[in-house]
Amino acid sequence: MERSLTMELVRVTEAAALASARWMGRGKKEEADDAATTAMRAVFDTVPMEGIVVIGEGEMDEAPMLYIGEKLGQGNGPQVDVAVDPLEGTNIVAKGTWNALTVLAVADRGNLLHAPDMYMDKLAVGPKAAGKVDINAPVIDNLKAVAQANGKDISDLVACVMDRERHEKLIHEIREAGARIKLISDGDVAGAINTAFEHTGVDILFGIGGAPEGVIAAVALKCLGGDFQGRLVPQTQEELDRCKQMGIIDPSQVLRMNDLVKGDDCIFAATGVTDGELLQGVRFTGTRATTQSLVMRAKSGTVRFIEGQHRLERKPEFVVKD
Ligand code: FBP
Repeated sequence: MERSLTMELVRVTEAAALASARWMGRGKKEEADDAATTAMRAVFDTVPMEGIVVIGEGEMDEAPMLYIGEKLGQGNGPQVDVAVDPLEGTNIVAKGTWNALTVLAVADRGNLLHAPDMYMDKLAVGPKAAGKVDINAPVIDNLKAVAQANGKDISDLVACVMDRERHEKLIHEIREAGARIKLISDGDVAGAINTAFEHTGVDILFGIGGAPEGVIAAVALKCLGGDFQGRLVPQTQEELDRCKQMGIIDPSQVLRMNDLVKGDDCIFAATGVTDGELLQGVRFTGTRATTQSLVMRAKSGTVRFIEGQHRLERKPEFVVKD
């Protein structure tokens, strides 16, 4: 993949963030998602690549845009797999709360796991604890390993967990071990990425969320030198059959970094829609807007935070007008 692709791709997440942020706090998650998807799709057309959506808004008959199998890009340039979540945290935007992102991940063709739309059990840590945790190990063992790697007492560790009933036992085990928990309502991609940035205060992410989001988070952590492990959690016979079709005969099989994203090159880009620990959300100031984005590439290990200033009259198609 060309190095310049990273800068092209951040334009895609910026456009999606500008469009969906107009719906922040309006209680309309579908509209926010549609705005992000439409803007993302439009800017992808300007990117010099031959992309195919492997993780997107759904199957072709369910989603008008960014559906699985859709071709993206100008049709010249590198052949790549594309995973998108045009708006990661639709409820977050509707409610105006924390950590909504527009996100995408790109890797050489064939290198991203085509994760089906089902749940995945996840474990994510930053670079210091990479290689020292194991999703099969007891919670307390992983907490001890991260505490040692991050040079902290367990009582100072913060685990990010989605606030869901299914996590009752997990939450109990983490608290019993003496660690603290940051419960999040949505947005476990941000939760996973935060583990790689000390100033976010998050040391580890545990728990079950969407499998497509898991692959996207794995790409981000590969770029950051962190670790991500997952295990699909099929809940119906249909989902079990999906796993088998993908060659995952035993769903309890642990999906490690190289199962989720193969090779040593991949790109991740995200733009903040609402404020989070890592990225500020979109700010509208009359005729202008500012965005904060994170874009990174595994091969070089470069991590860039990009602040964009946008003149809205020149980008009317990305901004919903009242
Ligand atoms: P949206 O699809 O509304 O953007 O929600 C995203 C998300 O919160 C992910 O971050 C997470 O992986 C998943 O949903 C959790 O699913 P559920 O709400 O079913 O627990």
